[in-house]
Amino acid sequence: MPRPRREAASRAAESSSATEVDADLARQFASLVVAWQREHGRHGLPWQRTRDPYRVWLSEIMLQQTQVSTVLAYYARFLERYPDVPALAAAPLDDVLTAWAGLGYYSRARNLHRCAQAVVAVHGGSFPTSAAQLAELPGIGRSTAAAIASFCFGERAAILDGNVKRVLSRTLGFGDDLAETRHERRLWSLAEAVLPQQGDDMPAYTQGLMDLGATVCLARKPTCLLCPVQALCAAQREGSPERYPVKTRKLKRSRREHWWLWLEWQDQVWLQQRPATGVWAGLWVLPLFDDEAQLQAAAQGLGSTPEPQPQIEHALTHFDWVLHPRRARLAALPAADGGSGVLGEGRWVARDQLGGVALPSPLRKLLLGA
Ligand code: ADE
Repeated sequence: MPRPRREAASRAAESSSATEVDADLARQFASLVVAWQREHGRHGLPWQRTRDPYRVWLSEIMLQQTQVSTVLAYYARFLERYPDVPALAAAPLDDVLTAWAGLGYYSRARNLHRCAQAVVAVHGGSFPTSAAQLAELPGIGRSTAAAIASFCFGERAAILDGNVKRVLSRTLGFGDDLAETRHERRLWSLAEAVLPQQGDDMPAYTQGLMDLGATVCLARKPTCLLCPVQALCAAQREGSPERYPVKTRKLKRSRREHWWLWLEWQDQVWLQQRPATGVWAGLWVLPLFDDEAQLQAAAQGLGSTPEPQPQIEHALTHFDWVLHPRRARLAALPAADGGSGVLGEGRWVARDQLGGVALPSPLRKLLLGA
């Protein structure tokens, strides 16, 4: 393997505001990443043993925001249930949400279902084979489309997820603010400029970038001594890799607070389905109240006295949700629900049936302890 040349590295440092990368640096970067992935990267994962775009697509969607160790069990189970695109497209959405329950970020499952239906309707049940066409499908962004096309078809398409932004901005000393679209667009161009020349190298290269970002080029305390591109890395040379990537606009997180009525009758619990849009769309939850007084009034109308349970704090993308469960046992089913409307829409679900219901993960934990 060629040793990185110093001059190439210093030209990289100057390239922060350029749209081009020195050709020498690009070649070295790609070949170092490819060689490192083959030697030290992650291998043998189920989705790495196939070039079937259905399987690779499913893994990429599951791996967004979810760790490999968690995905493994879900992935196998999901494929058993839906072995191909037509099977997934034909399934009721509620069943798909159930198979997804516990992985979180349920818009991924809804898009997965929509995407399978689009692949059947538009492409006759087989995924298209280019990144550009893949990116037209529901739930497949530019980076995911490139990952699938690279893994399955060896297309020279650049990925640029959060981890890869970190690897590239550090290596290239790219210090412009990625909150601005024009800067992000420029980093995309640079990502394309450093791709390997050979399509055969694309799967190892793409996986190598992901693996570097996930295991070496960490947001805090990167292990630069273990990094294959250390000698090329502008940020390492400057001495403070944590400075990259630069992104000023912070997502403003808010906090919401609600009360959950955990209503039981015999061995059953009362669940209501969330609306088709918004947080936890389509999932089954406990009746939700804006404050404790409303919950108490509804429970009393049903002839029950709720007991407080430990509060649950659940972080969603845009807000932190504090939920206060209140557990109430009904001695008998009331003929009417005391005017609260709680028992208007929903269903009783037996405890031993809960495993087959699409519950959001904090509720699964509350009701089933797992
Ligand atoms: N995250 C997203 N895609 C991934 C992949 N193919 N391997 C590991 N982590 C990932």
